[in-house]
Amino acid sequence: MYNSKIIGLGHYVPENVVTNDDLSKIMETTDEWITERTGIKERRWAKPEDKETTFTMGLQAAKRAIERSGLDKDEIDFIVFATLSPDYYFPGPGVQIQEALDIKTVGALDVRNQCSGFVYAVSVADQFIKTGMYKNILVIGAELQSHGIDKSTRGRSISVIFGDGAGAAVMTREEDNTKGILSTHLHSEGKHALELATEAPGMGTRWVTDILKENDPTDLSYMPYMNGTFVFKNAVVRFSQVILEGLAANGLEKEDIDMLIPHQANLRIAQFIQKKFELSDDQVFNNIQKYGNTTAASIPIALTEAWEQDKIKEGDTVVLAAFGSGFTWGSVIIKW
Ligand code: UT7
Repeated sequence: MYNSKIIGLGHYVPENVVTNDDLSKIMETTDEWITERTGIKERRWAKPEDKETTFTMGLQAAKRAIERSGLDKDEIDFIVFATLSPDYYFPGPGVQIQEALDIKTVGALDVRNQCSGFVYAVSVADQFIKTGMYKNILVIGAELQSHGIDKSTRGRSISVIFGDGAGAAVMTREEDNTKGILSTHLHSEGKHALELATEAPGMGTRWVTDILKENDPTDLSYMPYMNGTFVFKNAVVRFSQVILEGLAANGLEKEDIDMLIPHQANLRIAQFIQKKFELSDDQVFNNIQKYGNTTAASIPIALTEAWEQDKIKEGDTVVLAAFGSGFTWGSVIIKW
């Protein structure tokens, strides 16, 4: 059995910056409300005329990650792409990446675990590398949220939070079992599926054929719904549990954490976790202030920025943790 490790990171965000004040011009909201409740000051929303998509942003991030990994694109054995906002309902964007990178017909897997998507994707890649089935895996998390949210006052509790962007990592085999990804921990609790969800297009309770037949412009099935307070309360509990689970699995204590990269859901959640684990400002990386919540892209974007800013060094214990729709949650413990 091998370990896996991250050898290349990259991210991409659209150029278009949307500040809280910009939002207050199109809906009833204020910079004060958004900053106080979420910590967000601005986010990137792709301009429709730029024709950016989850795939195109993911591709940019992937190219940077591959370049920094020192590998040739043809050495990539497998692709894992996490997103809740694919370009097409099907197929997922993994195959678009395979085609655009012009690499041989390697497998491409799409992961649908929303805010936990990147953590799940890393876990999947880690298992393939551990068994020796694949050596080098490209893992991407990308989201185009801005084209799928209600930007009127009706949708403000969702739309002010979410942003567009992409992050990617190249993972490879590590022969030293004390280094790299030490363990990953995944959970779900499907009874809360509809507390944070977009119903359509779905084939279950709300048929697309019915939605089309009804042709009702007030139908919100295609819009994301979030029971914010309920999600918040569950998030703080599950984040803590899954970080503790990861530490315990490796005989580590909270004092051993050098860097925690939490999914950027809400600065208040990250601050709660920071306090609970008695971490300093230098030990928790947040960039939600600049990008909002970019769902599956948030951890790889934050990880890339933390690494670019030299906040992660060889030998550091780095913890990734996420919670989101499903509910799903998870953690990754890394010896960098
Ligand atoms: O990434 C996946 C996981 N997601 C999360 O972890 C998100 C967790 N939840 C949250 O971050 C918070 O619940 C929110 C930031 C989404 C909302 O904060 P809240 O303190 O729970 O606010 P609320 O939803 O209870 O709304 C409070 C009030 C309401 O008005 P009334 O009913 O008290 O009159 C809302 O209508 O704030 C109103 N409101 C807004 N006001 C100004 C909701 N959105 C806005 C807005 N601007 N954008």
